[in-house]
Amino acid sequence: MKSNSIFYSGVNDHITDLFEGQYPVPDGMSYNSYVIKDDKIAVMDSVDVRFAEEWLNKVQKISDGKKPDYLVIQHMEPDHSASIMRFMEVYPQTTVVSNQKAFAMMKNFFGTDFSDCRIVVGDGDSLELGTHKLNFVLAPMVHWPEVMFTYESCEKVLFSADAFGKFGALDADKPWIDEARRYYIGIVGKYGIPVQSVLKKAASLDIKTICPLHGPVLDENLGYYLGLYNTWSSYSVEEEGVVVAYTSVYGNTKKAVELLVEKLGVYGCKKVEVYDLARCDMSQAVAAAFRYGTLVLASTTYNGDVFPFMREFVEHLTERNFSNRKVAVIENGSWAPLVAKVIGSMLEKSKNISFAQNTVRILSALNEESAEKIDALAKELCGVGL
Ligand code: FEO
Repeated sequence: MKSNSIFYSGVNDHITDLFEGQYPVPDGMSYNSYVIKDDKIAVMDSVDVRFAEEWLNKVQKISDGKKPDYLVIQHMEPDHSASIMRFMEVYPQTTVVSNQKAFAMMKNFFGTDFSDCRIVVGDGDSLELGTHKLNFVLAPMVHWPEVMFTYESCEKVLFSADAFGKFGALDADKPWIDEARRYYIGIVGKYGIPVQSVLKKAASLDIKTICPLHGPVLDENLGYYLGLYNTWSSYSVEEEGVVVAYTSVYGNTKKAVELLVEKLGVYGCKKVEVYDLARCDMSQAVAAAFRYGTLVLASTTYNGDVFPFMREFVEHLTERNFSNRKVAVIENGSWAPLVAKVIGSMLEKSKNISFAQNTVRILSALNEESAEKIDALAKELCGVGL
């Protein structure tokens, strides 16, 4: 932090393999917390319970041994809230500051809602710390219903809860965008409308620094990050390109994918990403599908359905409101290919999906006819001959 009054008190987690029980985090995670020192001392959020003592030591050091006046809770998911009770054991005189929905969750998590030592705040309420002033902005469903942001108006700092976070510990020092996209699409992707509404609220604030609950503090080029959040939350295409997601049992569907990728290159598609859904980190494939404008789904037929990994993948897309994309299908089946039909019905409720004119049907293995169809699909996706 570039501030003389606001200090980072978060921790790095290199223990967790699957964040939220499903997202691989080979570079770890950070759980961020901040201490604001003024006439009053405020601590912004807690951390995962396994790091409570490390966090408390940091808070104590930053606070010069003084007792914090306020513990502000912006989000009750346990990666941020699970050390609240330990904090209150160490600092029983501290006042917990949060909103009504968060206090109701505290009662469920901890058996207490701190009714004798709390301040309940609502949208637009504020809390003076001295020179610094905390202004609370409710941000429901970004990513839980009780989430709130806090805008510190003296230094123009937005504490943004999960928003603008990323996978990866801070000491891993990896670029922001890819892991921020995978994090956003995976965790918050379903909640585009609430994100859009909080972005509108944020647009009225003069923000110099964003302090998220995961990932680095953002204090330069904020328009870039806000622009990406606008793109992602409106389900717009971030970049033109083709994602090919496939499943293959005996290699024949894979051969079709390889031929398509070769042809896409021949016809001038510059960005093509390929994901073997049985073997890749599926959250990478999901993030790619939301990044690019075109998605090719290639699957074997299996038990009268698409192959299980393909079903799982498409369900990840639809539950995150996949929309505004072009979709093409390559279906394989030895006696009754059903992939195009099943995928068509899985995407029936997805908004603004345009299906490619060329659907490729393979009966067990590529032949001259299906290879020609792949060629036609590649031309169509690259806009050749239009
Ligand atoms: Fe980082 Fe929704 O918790």
